[in-house]
Amino acid sequence: MTQDELKKKVAEAALHYVKGLSVLGVGTGSTVNHLIDLLADFKSQIDGAVSSSEGTTMKLKKVGIPVLDLNDTGTLEVYIDGADEVNAHFQMIKGGGGALTREKIIGAASRKFVCIADASKYVDVLGKFPLPVEVLPMARSYVAREMVKLGGQPVWREGFLSDNGGQILDVHNLTILNPVEMEKQINSIPGVITVGIFAIRPADVVLLGSEEGIRTLQ
Ligand code: 5RP
Repeated sequence: MTQDELKKKVAEAALHYVKGLSVLGVGTGSTVNHLIDLLADFKSQIDGAVSSSEGTTMKLKKVGIPVLDLNDTGTLEVYIDGADEVNAHFQMIKGGGGALTREKIIGAASRKFVCIADASKYVDVLGKFPLPVEVLPMARSYVAREMVKLGGQPVWREGFLSDNGGQILDVHNLTILNPVEMEKQINSIPGVITVGIFAIRPADVVLLGSEEGIRTLQ
């Protein structure tokens, strides 16, 4: 099976968490895009979804699912999103698609965070995937110097602007042994909008798609 076929399989498995819901939070990325295609069959059940990016918003509307404002929905029962890396504590690196800030907000505002990924994303230690850090444009160089002090090698994702007008530094060569501490530390640097470590609020359920089938960690 290709990686994309595994992403589709795990998206199918995530439908289990959609059943009976009228509103849900929807993440961003190629794995979630498969889920959105499948959500078309739930149109009659779903009143709407809170979207984590402009890309997801466009896709949701295309399949006929209304997009709701998080300010109107209150706490969400379920948020489903992909990850770039996930560890045994359900802590993640996210933001490969640049949607980390809205993803973190919706994750925090949800009762259950369901992470869907192909099994290659499961790691012992976070950090092999370059850590995305969204910054205010004027702070980019300053934050980059702070990342070097932490032992990382920041690379500006040139030409990319987030949905919030932020720029992204992809920080290479970090070994994230204490994700909660590093999340707090990087988030406290002036100019950082969000760091792509999702550890203070990890996932509650992780679905991993592999050749052997779906592994559910919870
Ligand atoms: C976007 C993300 C995505 O969840 C992450 O990049 C995984 O993407 P994909 O499902 O395409 O592998 O955090 O900001």
